[in-house]
Amino acid sequence: MADARGSIHGEWSSGLVFILAATGSAVGLGNLWRFPYLVGENGGAAFVIIYLLCILLVGLPIMIAEITIGRQGRRSPINSLLAVSRDEGRSRYWSLLGWLGVAAGFLILSFYSVVGGWALFYVLQSLLGSFQGITADAAGELFETFVGSPVDVLIWHTLFMVILFGIIAAGVRKGLQRAVTLLMPLLFVILLLLVGYGMAASGAFQEAVAFMFQPDFSAVEPGTVLTAMGQAFFTLSLGMGAIMVYGAYLPRNESIPRSAGWIVGMDTGTALLAGLAIFPIVFAAGMEPGEGGPGLVFVTLPIVFGEISFGFALGILFFVLLSVAAVTSGMSLLEPATAYLTEQGGSRIRAAAIIAGLIWLLGIACGLSLNVWGDFHLLPGMNVFDALEFVSNDIMLPLGGLLIAIFVGWQMRVHSVARELGLSDESTGFQLWLFVTRFVAPAAVILVFLNALGLFGG
Ligand code: PFF
Repeated sequence: MADARGSIHGEWSSGLVFILAATGSAVGLGNLWRFPYLVGENGGAAFVIIYLLCILLVGLPIMIAEITIGRQGRRSPINSLLAVSRDEGRSRYWSLLGWLGVAAGFLILSFYSVVGGWALFYVLQSLLGSFQGITADAAGELFETFVGSPVDVLIWHTLFMVILFGIIAAGVRKGLQRAVTLLMPLLFVILLLLVGYGMAASGAFQEAVAFMFQPDFSAVEPGTVLTAMGQAFFTLSLGMGAIMVYGAYLPRNESIPRSAGWIVGMDTGTALLAGLAIFPIVFAAGMEPGEGGPGLVFVTLPIVFGEISFGFALGILFFVLLSVAAVTSGMSLLEPATAYLTEQGGSRIRAAAIIAGLIWLLGIACGLSLNVWGDFHLLPGMNVFDALEFVSNDIMLPLGGLLIAIFVGWQMRVHSVARELGLSDESTGFQLWLFVTRFVAPAAVILVFLNALGLFGG
């Protein structure tokens, strides 16, 4: 039954395009903005090592599980879960997991698009030369004035959503595939240029390498492990159906474990390269990576670009890189719900317009919560932006990931899973993966979940 099913949305033209698209989803603000400041704040190399372990023990097995559901179901996450649970003789209520993912996608994209808009605004600023000779105070003020202006934030948020709408409305081949085959090579070229500069020119490359790879485990605090694992989820786009829907467009004969290995490897490589690109620049300017926190990219880096040689060009390259990474991730946040609505009837363009429009509206609330609605708290102590980020990243993604591991590990028949993975169910590789998916990954995710609820005070 599952064999006869095809995707009504079309397929990637090859396994390589799937890897590019899923890597595009994974590589985003999480790698270039969040990872470097988390490393900075959590003591460098020890954090990096724990993060790598989480990627390997939790991220990789759950990524394989998520792609498996998508490729067997060949639909949007909601309808894939419906189809696969029917194939496997399980409750149709598993499709609620798809709804959880769609809801998470709405919430994440509404704030992701606001930050994506900042990245686009900073491309313009870098082109205008706004960072040349900028002081620390002026850089802080540039960011705060921009974020404090409802009109500016909304204009750039709108532009970001319009770009995503254009790509998604054009369909899997003409939209998504074309965008990733164009943008991903650009992304890697820019990243390598920035790392090359860090190595050749800054004189602080050694310092950055030591900071990232010579662990001092005394810097590890109880919350560090859990922070590292939360980051592993977000950075790999796991737990909400983005990778599942991309898996639904993966041609039948392509290997899921091998593809997942490439995606995880490239995402991790990009995070490490982002660190190697950013830390030398920060060290060379005599700054500390932990100082900037979330402002590292938008406040600290412009100061640095204003000081160093080639800073004008490097600034443009960096913010183009950030924008491209945000667009290819944003696409994957919009696709699951758009695919679902298309499956319910009507054109993809109409579906994309409705979903993008709704997320755009929610994004307005996020954008305004940074300025005129700043005093309105959706959850105790959190404005709309912070509340949506908290609920989606810290609760919905880990919950989704946990349920995906349980569904594939415990609800699907072992031989169906082995067949989809193209492995013998007796092979060591399959048995190892099954063990990690059944026991290790769920246990670890439960820890993240408890952490997000604040039970460890981390
Ligand atoms: N992985 C993206 C990043 O690192 O920026 C964020 C993301 C995209 C999370 C898609 C979840 C998702 F479904």
